Amino acid sequence: LQTRKYSIATIPADGIGPEVISAGIQVLCKVSELDGSFELEFEEYDWSSDTYKKTGKYIPDGGLDKLKKHDAILFGAVGAPDVPDHISLWGLRLAICQPFQQYANVRPTKIFRGTRSPLRNANHGDLDWVIVRENSEGEYAGQGGRSHRGQPWETATEVSIFSRHAVERILKFAFETARKRPRKLLTVVTKSNAQRNGMVLWDEVAAEIAKQFSDVKWDKMLVDAMTCRMVLDPKSLDTIVATNLHADILSDLAAALAGSIGIAPTSNLDPTRQNPSMFEPIHGSAFDITGKGVANPVATFWTAGEMLNWLGEDEAARKMMEAVEAVTERGIVTRDLGGSVGTKEVTDAVCEELGRVF
Ligand code: NAI
Ligand code: MG
Repeated sequence: LQTRKYSIATIPADGIGPEVISAGIQVLCKVSELDGSFELEFEEYDWSSDTYKKTGKYIPDGGLDKLKKHDAILFGAVGAPDVPDHISLWGLRLAICQPFQQYANVRPTKIFRGTRSPLRNANHGDLDWVIVRENSEGEYAGQGGRSHRGQPWETATEVSIFSRHAVERILKFAFETARKRPRKLLTVVTKSNAQRNGMVLWDEVAAEIAKQFSDVKWDKMLVDAMTCRMVLDPKSLDTIVATNLHADILSDLAAALAGSIGIAPTSNLDPTRQNPSMFEPIHGSAFDITGKGVANPVATFWTAGEMLNWLGEDEAARKMMEAVEAVTERGIVTRDLGGSVGTKEVTDAVCEELGRVF
């Protein structure tokens, strides 16, 4: 019998990153052991804010070439109290996403069995979304500058870039994502009333691409009205696509509405598969709980499941998520979900449950 082998790069980085990534590796090893038809090989990269403080660089010279050889990347979180956030974000996370053209950022959200949404009327099954975020340009293109520093007339620009190429590929990806889900329903979010150039291009391209997807039902929302709809009518939504900035904000709202930022995953995909894709929990390094053993590992488990899916191991991924949800259903959850156990207890419970699911 031939076993499939995948080489996974891990970048635990800062704060609770190392705690949740080691929990994720423990669960993934158990999944591959029980499944028996594929092997996972992990290689850790110690790139972090500590590396930056010692060497002046997050990624050493030649680092990206090494990273490129792996089948996927499992990323923890980056950010330290004594490094400005724009330095850490651009130094590590965006320094991987952009050259690897991981242009589709996919953020599924749902209410797990046994957990509660802060929305009074939303229960398991009522909120089940996938947010597709443009991940290569838009408001985070990094274009702009600052002049006259420190003067009263100091000026800064932050220029958004919307290229037809990138808008087309992300909208196409979003329609494809919607098509694969049972409801085949897509909401395209823009702000084309106020942002009358780039956002109008989005609207036009959406209408063009929609013609190739006559089986997908789609509608349009302005981003401000979208926040209301997410809160007041979560059942009316399924797949959502928006720009880099808008989807960044909407997906944090989505995670909170589903119960906690501690369960939400995110995939940075290169749909052309020329480069490895990167999988991470949505949350950051959470300094306030670092080292306390209370970080919720579920977001990392879910992102690890998304990684298995992307690698083609969908059956193993499905079983893994079944085990995770069985554990939340039994109330074995961390404090952010109203429970009282720690990272280790949740991780061990998932590993034990996997024995039953496989
Ligand atoms: P954060 O996500 O680190 O924390 C926000 C709140 O959620 C905190 O109260 C934290 O304790 C809680 N939380 C986060 N993850 C949790 C988990 N797994 N279990 C239980 N509770 C959890 O966001 P914050 O505080 O805005 O940022 C902290 C640092 O992380 C900053 O340096 C920021 O730049 C960085 N960051 C990095 C990200 C990344 O690597 N992709 C994403 C977001 C923030
Ligand atoms: Mg964010």
